Amino acid sequence: MSQPLEPALFDRLFAAAEAARENAYAPYSGFRVGAAVLTPDGRIFAGANIENAAYPQGQCAEASAIGAMGTAGARRIVAAVVIGGEEGDGMLCTPCGGCRQRLREFAAPDTRVHICGPEGLRRIMTVEELLPASFGPENLDA
Ligand code: THU
Repeated sequence: MSQPLEPALFDRLFAAAEAARENAYAPYSGFRVGAAVLTPDGRIFAGANIENAAYPQGQCAEASAIGAMGTAGARRIVAAVVIGGEEGDGMLCTPCGGCRQRLREFAAPDTRVHICGPEGLRRIMTVEELLPASFGPENLDA
């Protein structure tokens, strides 16, 4: 298993996702999401969901965060935070199928995804739990 994320590091990731969520553009669903990813050198990249009047063109928060990370030249994710839903609603804002695959591209199977509500952590799931028996870059190495 991966090491538990230090509380101070989790707090920084959570704060980055929280700030990104403030800028979510979700006029159609009203469902605001923020995400943040941590790279091995300690950099944090955040993103929000950005919807579109042509609904399928909307982008998830995780995709925004991973896009920012890749644009900065970073290629590895060692932890992620996703914040969605309303305070105390008890729901899990788990990444959608497409975003599970996006995370998997840059993360290890035991990389932890911290699934949060606005009030804080609700559940931790690994990338392998979110996307078992996944297809990834190694499949193309053979
Ligand atoms: N959404 C995310 O950004 N991330 C998730 O993990 C789940 C869903 C967005 C997509 C859409 O803008 C809104 O939430 C409702 O589905």
